[in-house]
Amino acid sequence: MIRVDLRSDTVTHPTPEMRRAMAKAEVGDDVYGDDPTTNKLQEKAASILGKQAGLFVASGTQGNLTSVLSHCTRGDAFVLGDKAHIFQSEAGGTSVLGGVVMKTVPNNADGTLNEADIRAAAAKGDYHKARVKLLAIENTQNLCGGVALSPRQTAAHVAVARDMGLKVHLDGARIFNAAVYFKCNPKELTRGVDSVTFCLSKGLSCPIGSIVCGDKDFIDEANRWRKMLGGGMRQVGIIAAAGLVALDSMIDRLAEDHENARKLAFGLAEIQGVDLDPAAVQTNIVRFGIPSRKGNEIAAGLYKEGIYVNPGDSALRLVTHYGVDSEDIDYTLEAMRRVVAAVTDRTVSAPKAGRNGRSAEGRASAAKRTTAPRR
Ligand SMILES: Cc1ncc(COP(=O)(O)O)c(C=O)c1O
Repeated sequence: MIRVDLRSDTVTHPTPEMRRAMAKAEVGDDVYGDDPTTNKLQEKAASILGKQAGLFVASGTQGNLTSVLSHCTRGDAFVLGDKAHIFQSEAGGTSVLGGVVMKTVPNNADGTLNEADIRAAAAKGDYHKARVKLLAIENTQNLCGGVALSPRQTAAHVAVARDMGLKVHLDGARIFNAAVYFKCNPKELTRGVDSVTFCLSKGLSCPIGSIVCGDKDFIDEANRWRKMLGGGMRQVGIIAAAGLVALDSMIDRLAEDHENARKLAFGLAEIQGVDLDPAAVQTNIVRFGIPSRKGNEIAAGLYKEGIYVNPGDSALRLVTHYGVDSEDIDYTLEAMRRVVAAVTDRTVSAPKAGRNGRSAEGRASAAKRTTAPRR
């Protein structure tokens, strides 16, 4: 039986309040624009993110795809990080379905892209080159370990894009994790971007759905693409109702997930065979290296202990969420110590000496004091 599921924050189940709201949601045909619950959710999301309008879509992938296709046409190109989810994990949809070329530049460890790289990738060329129309950024940056881009970093990317004549799309699947980390208004993280997608079905615990926000013209165009992609849904208020509950009650609690992730990270960093700088963990994603390259065996061992993590050879990712509490972290750390020792053929040893001589607990509480958000 699975006791702790750390594969992703997408495994969360709707809360009892969401289920109640879903059961009594007022609905209409949303393709006609008649679904009052969806309309309310779209307006609320747009207002929270400081945009004119919103559009409910089936998934984060559909939101990103709809957005890129709304900004770019066949034969255009867009610039994005080489660790961007759009590039790595969305089946190449923007190129396959939209004929839009992806021009990647390296993501830095903090999730940012270098100005010089963006400028070089977006530079105007002659007829040999695809026309670059868009810059896509990601916050929090999943593959970089859930690191959050600050308002200032976001503004810097927007400024370069503007200077190069590019629009900006923000893959904000976990934008509220970033806002909670920086203790800032989410609008500070979306200012200046032309479109943003965020997911309801990750840390916010909704069963289905994402929302794209932007100005009215952009959302009209996005609506057309959503329809073409088969994403026009009918009485979708049934699931939008959960989104309204999420925006009202599930954002602030993301801080608990971050705290659990930090506790997990500081505990893991004490284990021989785990390569992790726990101070780098900012939100709800903990990525770490397994120098022995026995990540798959560790994942299998954890599974036997009732802990579900995605497999990986030389690196693993654990994600905290609404379905994981502090005791689950204790249980995971205990199991992890045993499993890593068994897999790497070592007896369970005393914790690694801390970088500064502190115990895991001492370091975790020190981290709480020292991880004041950067802006
Ligand atoms: C950064 C990021 N963007 C987009 C997505 C896609 O979301 P979905 O799984 O809803 O398509 C994910 C999913 O994990 C993600 O991590």
